[in-house]
Amino acid sequence: MLTKRAVATTAPATTPAPVLAPAPPRAGQPVPAGSPWPAGALRTADDITVGGVGLTELAVQYATPLYVLDEGEVRDRCRAYRRALPGTDVVYAAKAFLCGAMAEWVEQEGLGLDVCSGGELEHAVTCGFPPERIVVHGNAKSPEELAAAVRLGVGRIVVDSFAEIARLAALAAPERPQAVLVRVVPGVSAGHHAAVRTGVEEQKFGFSAATGDAEDAVARVLGQPRLRLAGLHCHLGSQIAETAPYLAAVDRLVPLLAAIRDRHGVELPELDLGGGHAVPYRFGEPGLDLPEFATRVTARLAEQCARHGLRVPRLAVEPGRAIVGPAGVAVYRVLAVKHTMSGRTFVAVDGGMSDNPRPALYDARYTAALIGRAAEGPLTDAVVVGRHCEAGDVLVPQAALPADVRPGDLIAVPVAGAYHLSMASGYNLLGRPPLVAVVDGAARLLLRRETLDDFRRRDVGR
Ligand code: LLP
Repeated sequence: MLTKRAVATTAPATTPAPVLAPAPPRAGQPVPAGSPWPAGALRTADDITVGGVGLTELAVQYATPLYVLDEGEVRDRCRAYRRALPGTDVVYAAKAFLCGAMAEWVEQEGLGLDVCSGGELEHAVTCGFPPERIVVHGNAKSPEELAAAVRLGVGRIVVDSFAEIARLAALAAPERPQAVLVRVVPGVSAGHHAAVRTGVEEQKFGFSAATGDAEDAVARVLGQPRLRLAGLHCHLGSQIAETAPYLAAVDRLVPLLAAIRDRHGVELPELDLGGGHAVPYRFGEPGLDLPEFATRVTARLAEQCARHGLRVPRLAVEPGRAIVGPAGVAVYRVLAVKHTMSGRTFVAVDGGMSDNPRPALYDARYTAALIGRAAEGPLTDAVVVGRHCEAGDVLVPQAALPADVRPGDLIAVPVAGAYHLSMASGYNLLGRPPLVAVVDGAARLLLRRETLDDFRRRDVGR
């Protein structure tokens, strides 16, 4: 049995052991450092409120599984970035999560938008996002996607292959050269899982700085009068909690800017350091310290530019998870509870890997809290599993839940705003969950639940 403040024993010695405190503070209590809940979330006697709305009430109204997004938290996070990094372009990475309301909030808060497919691009623009504030990414953009980006007048296209440079040059109009960034592999390893480490050699993104491909790409872009080279880009990886890898990227990219100046006589005005800023998923886990990142990265950039006699380029960052991850909460209903021979408790809920594939894909760890009734008893170390037909469909391998957890109970999982719904699948025809926005005590539906009718409409073969 675990007590309420029991400590996990499996954390590596180098990171602080997360405390399995599952719920946010009560009203009037301070928010503990490294809390995974939205800053305004509160624990009441038998519930958790987010944006002033009880999660239990939402679960009853909209049914489960349900995703809840705290608009105030998203906006506060956008503002924190703008405050910490004045004079820097803050570009929200839409792959973390995109819908019309999200695009609108981000636009109103003065951020740009990073898209990585024609779908994200078209959706953002049709929802009213200004194209000139959009940055287009992708290691394999189709000719149609490139044409759409040029036609819509996006601000920047980040070129990622030689083939794309030629294609793009053919698409752009002579009187309106397309601004591009060249994506560089700086040779810096960072990120929570090998699947998301993109700053190193031997992966599919970018032009290697080490092999000379990056300089070749720059030369080719400069040789295309219909393209305007605005600067360099790199993205190291995801869930990076330290500033050091970003400093290493600056140390690698500024000399490249100097080499470009020496060879071509041009000083590139922009440097985009990508995203990857970490957030805590469990109490006490480290997130990227944004003020520290801002201070040290801008100082290092100025220092390196002075050393190489360069004007300081305009900086851009592309946070995705750090804007929307902690604003989201997933709410599930318990369908079954089992106790194994060795005494483990399996708590099966009505969602699973189709709405959150992250534990299965990256071994991601979450916390969970019981809501909907007062639970004063001892906590047990439970495994929260999904309802899909795979033993690997585990949502929270180590959840501190009341020992009397039972079917019908509701469970809330924080940090569900990024890479859940955007990566949700149609597995087992469960239907992707709805998303409800909460703010100032009011709720509104942003995405409705996917129904069997949606599947039937696509099933046109009979
Ligand atoms: N910029 C570029 C070019 C990217 O590729 C990404 C993420 C970002 C920005 C935003 O990264 P963020 O700040 O959200 O870490 N599905 C994985 C994460 C994949 C990230 C892919 N690229 C996960 O759930 O952990």
